Amino acid sequence: MLAVRDEALAYGTAKALPEGLPEGPSRFSAPLPLPEATRQVRAARVAPEGRCRSQGLGWLVVIEPPYVRVARAAYDAMAEDYVDFTRHSLAGKPFERAMLASYAELVRTSGLPGPVAEVGCGTGRITAHLHALGLDVFGVDLSPGMIAVARRDHPHIRFEEGRLAALDIADESLSGVVAWYSIIHTPPEEHPAVLAEFHRVLAPGGHLLLAFQVGQAGDEPFHLAEAFGHQVALDFHRVSPDHLTRLLADAGVPVIARLLCEREESERTPQAYLVARKR
Ligand SMILES: C[S@@+](CC[C@H](N)C(=O)[O-])C[C@H]1O[C@@H](n2cnc3c(N)ncnc32)[C@H](O)[C@@H]1O
Repeated sequence: MLAVRDEALAYGTAKALPEGLPEGPSRFSAPLPLPEATRQVRAARVAPEGRCRSQGLGWLVVIEPPYVRVARAAYDAMAEDYVDFTRHSLAGKPFERAMLASYAELVRTSGLPGPVAEVGCGTGRITAHLHALGLDVFGVDLSPGMIAVARRDHPHIRFEEGRLAALDIADESLSGVVAWYSIIHTPPEEHPAVLAEFHRVLAPGGHLLLAFQVGQAGDEPFHLAEAFGHQVALDFHRVSPDHLTRLLADAGVPVIARLLCEREESERTPQAYLVARKR
């Protein structure tokens, strides 16, 4: 069992471990050798974003794919710069504010009891905007650095560490999910798993809002090697609104509204916004 725990810690996050095991740090960058028992469990049960579950033994192992570690490191490094860079960005974006306001109204009038999660909330600027629009909202992000800034700047709002494809949120407990430029670092082949997770946590009738940069199938990701003077290795995956619309329908969260904004001078791509509702 200890060996299994070691592997879990080496590759990701160990949760609900058997009683009596010592607590330790939750992440390591250097992988340890895989014990045989864990190798078998991984082979049998690893799901698309690397989730691994053993019901029989009563523990859960979450294995992180490399792109998650890379994104965490990048956003940890640039958290303070990011908050300055985006501080007033909504002010010059009337269409973004319109989508957020329409979404907030849809959720408020849906009558559903649960809160809204902004997943991939970063420093919490959109979470705070949604809160000001009257939503009961909390933020989730994989970067402890971004979460620390969000908690500091918005102490009245709850922020938690977590991952898009493995949210620590109960089934069907949310009236809404907002992923505002947060699926952009997830490789497109992982999008069905992420959308399935959004479907799992949304109550029937709950609303999803996605914002992302537009691209076409087969586009190479845009690679960023430096941001605000920090060395990073961040990939931006662009997708087409039509493709995501199809995936959302397949996931049981069909699109009810979409907005496409043509590329502005300061931008590399057009921007898309989709609102979807769980059946
Ligand atoms: C471009 S920022 C957007 C932040 C915020 N939504 C905003 O608009 O200011 C992308 C955020 O998504 C987070 N993120 C990227 N991939 C993630 C994942 N798989 N799980 C959770 N958060 C993720 C990053 O840590 C980062 O804070």
